[in-house]
Formats: sequence, structure tokens, C-alpha cells
Amino acid sequence: MQHNYSYESALATSERIGWKVDDIIGGDKRLDFSKPFMPESLAQVKKLSFLTSEEQRTLNQIRGHEYLAMFGLVEEFILPYVVDHARPQLSGDDYRVRALLQFAGEEAKHIHLFKRFRQEFEGGFGSKCDFIGPAEDVKRFVLSHSPLGVGIAILHIEWMTLRHYIEGVKDNQDLDLQFKSLLKHHWLEESQHTKLDTLIVEALAEAATEKEIDQAFREYADIGGFLDNGIKQQTEFDVESFVRATGRNLSKSEREAMTATVLKGMRWTYLGTGMTHTNFLATIEQISPEGKKQIEAMAPMFC
Ligand SMILES: [Fe+2]
Ligand SMILES: [Fe+2]
Repeated sequence: MQHNYSYESALATSERIGWKVDDIIGGDKRLDFSKPFMPESLAQVKKLSFLTSEEQRTLNQIRGHEYLAMFGLVEEFILPYVVDHARPQLSGDDYRVRALLQFAGEEAKHIHLFKRFRQEFEGGFGSKCDFIGPAEDVKRFVLSHSPLGVGIAILHIEWMTLRHYIEGVKDNQDLDLQFKSLLKHHWLEESQHTKLDTLIVEALAEAATEKEIDQAFREYADIGGFLDNGIKQQTEFDVESFVRATGRNLSKSEREAMTATVLKGMRWTYLGTGMTHTNFLATIEQISPEGKKQIEAMAPMFC
């Protein structure tokens, strides 16, 4: 991809933006449960016309909880990945060292932020929402792949985060302001991560053999398949959480419709929005036109 990303400018932007977790949540900054949390483009609950608008909002908030937990989960493997990548280069270019450590520090902060929001959610929602895991197992699985394979998966995650905010949240006046603030602040820092991860992936790809590049694309698909299995399990949890929260007795066909809709919404949120992101695909194409074709062939299943 033709770009002008650099460690120096990413670091400068990041230092200008820097926010604290306590600036965003705590004290009088509370979630408003009378509002939806997720944009409809991701939540997709309005398709379920057999639900009342209140029930649709409850399902939307359950998807919001899942979003908090999912980002908490993926950031758990992004953090050690970035630290491992930075470790051998600590005596190299000063801007690169600092930008990478800043990247890692921000992901550690995001883990904390998503955790705080999840606590806040659990305190106010009124019933329990389950989430897949444990994060430790997911981390072990993902990091068992080559740095290039994992780097490509992370690049997908960074770009999809930007897309969620820009396309669904930025100009959305319906959402809870607190949840919107979370997504905005996350987006502000993820905007640097997309650039830094592009630089990481490009450097790894440049040093890789053709065989290693082919392997990295198989690993990307492998990690995606693993996340998709988690998504299928989480779909069941979201539906269960809905039943628990509303006490509604879903008929067999209603339950099937809700399961299919939540699954589609989750696949689009975590897989489709990344796999079809123009900038993600531009970097991929530069590494391997064949790899790009493979991703484009897989993408419709998640869109
Ligand atoms: Fe993050
Ligand atoms: Fe990130």
C-alpha cells in the first residue's frame, strides 16, 4: 500500500492524544441503560420484528457487553505480541522503540478500559451475561502461530475497529454517550495502531520467504476459523443472556431467527468488517496478490 506511515509521526500523534481511563469512566460517567449501546449496522437487532423495541434495546446492550468482552479478549494477545516484537529491537531506532512501547502501553490501557466498562455494565444491566474464554487459552492458541500470521490477524482487528467507529458510531445520535465515548477514545488510539501494525507486517513480510508468506495466510485463516468457532458459541450465550434478562419465552422459530441474526451480526462485526477493509486488503495485496484473493473468496461468508 502506498502510505506515509512512520514510527515518528505515529508516536507524535499518540503523545498528543493520550487520555486516561479515569477521564472516560467512573464518578458521574455512567452507562445509560435507556439507550442502545451498539450501532444497528453491527448489532442488527431491528431485523427481529417479533421483539418489542425495548427487547431489541436489551439485545443491543447484550451485544454491547459482548463487544467489550471480545475486545478485552483480543487485546490480551495483541499486548504480548507487540511486546515480543519490540523486545529484540530495543537498541534500534529510537522512534520505533518508543512507538512500539507506546502501542503496547495503549493496548494494556485498553484492556483495563474494557474491563472497567464491563464492570460498569454488569453493575447496571440487572442480569448475568456470559462470555467465551478463558482469554489465556485464546492467547496461547493465537500466539502459537508465526509472527507474520498473527500480525496479519491483528492488522485486521485494528482496521475493523476504525471502521466500526467511523461507519457506525461517529455521526450516530441515538447511542448512549458513555458507550460512544469508549468507542471514540479507542478509535483515537487504534488509528495509530493500524499504521504501526502495517509497518510491522511489512517488515516481517519483507524478511519472509515465499513459503513463510503462504504459511502466514493459512495461519490467518486458521485464527479466523478459531474466532468464528468462538463466535458460534458466543451467539448461544447472547441468546441465553437475552432470555435471562427479559424472561421472554421464545418459540422454536423465534429462537432460531434470533440465533441466525446474532450470528450474522457477530460475524460481520468481528470478521467481515476487517476482511473487506480497503486498507487492510491493500497491505495484503502488496504482500501476496494470491493471499488477497483467498481472503476475498472467504469474506462473503462473514458479510
Ligand atoms: Fe485497543
Ligand atoms: Fe490496537
